[in-house]
Amino acid sequence: MGDELGRAADVDRVLIDEKIIEKRLDAMAAEIDREFPAGSIVAIVLLKGAFVFAADLLRRIPRPLEIECLNVSSYHGGTESSGVVKFLDHSLPDVQDRHVLLLDDILDTGRTLKAVRDRLLLEGCAAVHTGVLLAKDRPREEEVQADYVGFEIGDEFVVGYGLDYKGRYRNLPFVGVLKP
Ligand code: IMP
Ligand code: MG
Repeated sequence: MGDELGRAADVDRVLIDEKIIEKRLDAMAAEIDREFPAGSIVAIVLLKGAFVFAADLLRRIPRPLEIECLNVSSYHGGTESSGVVKFLDHSLPDVQDRHVLLLDDILDTGRTLKAVRDRLLLEGCAAVHTGVLLAKDRPREEEVQADYVGFEIGDEFVVGYGLDYKGRYRNLPFVGVLKP
């Protein structure tokens, strides 16, 4: 209990609690398994934000699966997108002719998903299917949508379950809003 309060002391309110996330992930995983073409999937996890979501989602998908991670950055620590998506890895996974499930923590302006999706298509993958834990209710600056969305949320800055503010709060087991 002390631990929970200690980790969550800066949190103003819980937006989506752990139980609700878990239930939603059961449904998302079933949907993905149903809709994905037969065969193996390459999941590409955008670091760092999507690692918690991806770990919990991918363990629920009962079929052959390869997991790759890509380190991209657009926020550089604050609460406003910098507008530039940086690829921080030296090389990309081999996705030639593969069906990719691209996972990110949250769809905000859409720049990250679009930049990575376009890049993977350039690399010759067969198709990019996109999944996010959260999608913010705001106009996208890039034409991109997620095929699989955990929760639609309002246009506010959230932390927890992988999402950070200045590198912190990723280990909160829920999605919440910080105190002002
Ligand atoms: P986009 O490129 O603007 O769609 O933003 C996506 C990236 O910005 C995500 O991968 C997150 O890392 C970060 N981001 C966007 N909104 C939030 C938020 O509310 N909290 C924490 N990170 C966020
Ligand atoms: Mg981030």
